[in-house]
Amino acid sequence: MAVLILAEIEPTDAWFTLFIAQLKKNEPNLDLRVWPEYGQPEEIEIVLAWWPPLGVMQKFPNLKLIISLGASVDRILLDPDLPDSIPIVRLVSEGKTGQMTEYVTLAVLLFQRRLLEYQTLQRSQRWQYLPAPDAIAFTVGILGLGVLGSTVAKNLAAMRFPVRGWSRTPKEIVGVECFHGREQFELFLGKCRAIICLLPITPQTEGILCHDSFAALPTGAYLINVGRGKHLVEADLLSALDSGQIAAACLDVFHTEPLAPDHPFWSHPRIILTPHIAAPGQPDELAAHIIETIKLSRSGRPLEYIIDRNQGY
Ligand code: NDP
Ligand code: OXD
Repeated sequence: MAVLILAEIEPTDAWFTLFIAQLKKNEPNLDLRVWPEYGQPEEIEIVLAWWPPLGVMQKFPNLKLIISLGASVDRILLDPDLPDSIPIVRLVSEGKTGQMTEYVTLAVLLFQRRLLEYQTLQRSQRWQYLPAPDAIAFTVGILGLGVLGSTVAKNLAAMRFPVRGWSRTPKEIVGVECFHGREQFELFLGKCRAIICLLPITPQTEGILCHDSFAALPTGAYLINVGRGKHLVEADLLSALDSGQIAAACLDVFHTEPLAPDHPFWSHPRIILTPHIAAPGQPDELAAHIIETIKLSRSGRPLEYIIDRNQGY
């Protein structure tokens, strides 16, 4: 039985080239196929999916497992013909979690230590001191306290930042002030000098980074969005930057990726953007992890990180 990589891969994609080589190195006997060359549809037993083309999963009558090649499964769940009974597992790894922790910590420090403003001063050759708040006076709020959000929260708390977190269900994390549910959302936001979005995209979280949420933050707060582009109402961010309600933003994810060449975010002086690279994971670590998951599945043992289709994450 075969494993199919279901993703729109450019031939020049260095990450996928390395990943495929590592899968073959880890398991030389693996019958690995790469979309659109899937051969006989009845031979496909496992799909490894990243932004898969829609309407394809139902082609494979013997499909037993879908493994997302990302931490999230939003695009997979968009498939209108997704078979009901197939488990979907998402990708969680130490390396990916480490990369996300590095990325958001970098963004928090950049804002708290005012590096964006120093860069502007440097361009006009101005030698000027800007007072920066101490970490203990710079509360960071994390939307989403799952695998990534809880790790980021503990890391920032260890760096002396007061940390707040918000999740769907109640949580207890040492050193983190935890809030949950829609009814505690504004209360949670009230003291956050910076917020980090680490939510999955679901009907409940789409558009959550909007005018009302920005208004609930202290004036001049910072936004870091590494969740999904659709968490953010882009026009509301531009207005909040204009009014000063949001001082600056660091964005890794967008409504449409790649970002359109004429998008106003590209040249905004108070937006730092990166092309969805916060935490891709290392190809060798992820390949080894996926081979283990395939072996577990084939031996009928329980799998980790099966998503709950009703919750959408
Ligand atoms: P998890 O599933 O482990 O955690 C999700 C968290 O979001 C949970 O704490 C959950 O609450 C919370 N949540 C979900 N829905 C709601 C809601 N309606 N209200 C409040 N809280 C909610 O996911 P991960 O931590 O692994 O990943 C988070 C997201 O980060 C991914 O879905 C993906 O979008 C993004 N990501 C981005 C990457 C990038 O490179 N930019 C890389 C990897 C991930 P509860 O705990 O109560 O269930
Ligand atoms: C994602 C990922 O879900 O890169 O964005 O894992």
